Amino acid sequence: LEQGCLTIVVLGASGDLAKKKTFPALYHLFEQGFLQSGEVHIVGYARTNLSDDGLRGRIRAYLKGASEEHVSEFLQLIKYVGGSYDSGEGFEKLNKEISDYEMSNNSGSSRRLFYLALPPSVYPSVCKMIRTYCMSPTSRTGWTRVIVEKPFGRDLDSAEELSSQLGELFQEDQLYRIDHYLGKELVQNLLVLRFANRLFLPLWNRDNVDNIQIVFREDFGTDGRGGYFDQYGIIRDIIQNHLLQVFCLVAMEKPVSLKPEHIRDEKVKVLQSVNPIKDEEVVLGQYQGYKDDPTVPDDSNTPTFASIVLRVHNERWEGVPFILKAGKALNSRKAEIRVQFKDVPGDIFKCKKQGRNEFVIRLQPSEAMYMKLTVKKPGLEMATEQSELDLSYGMRYQDVKIPEAYERLILDTIRGDQQHFVRRDELKAAWQIFTPLLHNIDAGKLKAVSYKPGSRGPKEADELSEKVGYMQTHGYIWIPPTLA
Ligand code: BG6
Repeated sequence: LEQGCLTIVVLGASGDLAKKKTFPALYHLFEQGFLQSGEVHIVGYARTNLSDDGLRGRIRAYLKGASEEHVSEFLQLIKYVGGSYDSGEGFEKLNKEISDYEMSNNSGSSRRLFYLALPPSVYPSVCKMIRTYCMSPTSRTGWTRVIVEKPFGRDLDSAEELSSQLGELFQEDQLYRIDHYLGKELVQNLLVLRFANRLFLPLWNRDNVDNIQIVFREDFGTDGRGGYFDQYGIIRDIIQNHLLQVFCLVAMEKPVSLKPEHIRDEKVKVLQSVNPIKDEEVVLGQYQGYKDDPTVPDDSNTPTFASIVLRVHNERWEGVPFILKAGKALNSRKAEIRVQFKDVPGDIFKCKKQGRNEFVIRLQPSEAMYMKLTVKKPGLEMATEQSELDLSYGMRYQDVKIPEAYERLILDTIRGDQQHFVRRDELKAAWQIFTPLLHNIDAGKLKAVSYKPGSRGPKEADELSEKVGYMQTHGYIWIPPTLA
């Protein structure tokens, strides 16, 4: 890690994202020695009138269970500056705070990281203010980097507009578009799994794979975020970003090397190979009770559930459906990738009814990978049954603490590694895939069917998966092993 003076500015410091994710992630980095007192200075910025201690108190409330001594030491690194998001005054104050700290630290360096935990509507003005008042001075060594969070626009045009506004102010290598799914342990493992294992190389294609599902389920609804959610819906909230990023890593070709640009080149290519989505390969749902939220209009058609089939027009994947499915208020909380293989040709055991081979990567909770196999049922009979090869992280890596996604990604930003961030052309390609569908939904041409909260979602979604080839295994459930 580079040494020298580092300032991390969290804009929107009194908001939800900052309290729940950004500050706790910074704390964990501090606890592990990545942010050293004397070298790092953290500044919260927001419109609220707050003292340093006022902000510290709010952050402390989200660090329950951590060592009191560490927390107090960490909180001492934090200062608060209040100001608006579009006036020079506040940002001049902010710059003074940063510069004073840099002057007092005689390393001669100035590394400035701005984390925008803000609604995107203020990105252009905030970025302009940073560019005008707060850049790392050229008289010192260092850099200025900006982290932005989704939603990056609502559709292709608005995303492109936002990109060009930011592009006029910052170079691409200064902009870090965060997608926290790229910071999850098993998402980061995907390239290793696919390209470092001889076992998977010959299987990962249309000759052997029947269908692939990438599924996100939550067992709670919009929980007070209805106002935000209703403007976006599940496709913009989860599928266009989190699930599509996972899709890229599952479907892309092998990159030339592990250089971030090589990896991102391959992601863009596979996105550009996705065919237009067909209306008949989409199921939308909205859970009953969603509109009870007073911030949601009574006639809202916003989907809280969607299942969408993507088809990749290339040599590897022609004909293989990728089912991207996400829903709120369902019967469980999990995210997983399920690669279902084709039937065994000339099956002498007649075991088809028991189910196909599947390779499942459970992103959360209880990270795991397991491979569903047909085996001989132990005993005197010659009978077959489904079993699994199981790599459950909780069992295999008992003493390893799996880092939080945000923790890793903030560290990557400090290190200047953009591999796990979304490049501008990648974002554009992602919006190109979903924009026609989103416009149809916004225009009311596609309707969300209602489903019961706490259910599997609309039955039409199961029917769609079956129609495109997914065969659900009956009578077999993988139970995550627990430590005795
Ligand atoms: C966020 C979405 O990006 O991801 C939320 O806006 C969602 O709606 C969350 O709940 C899920 O993240 P995780 O890491 O809990 O799966």
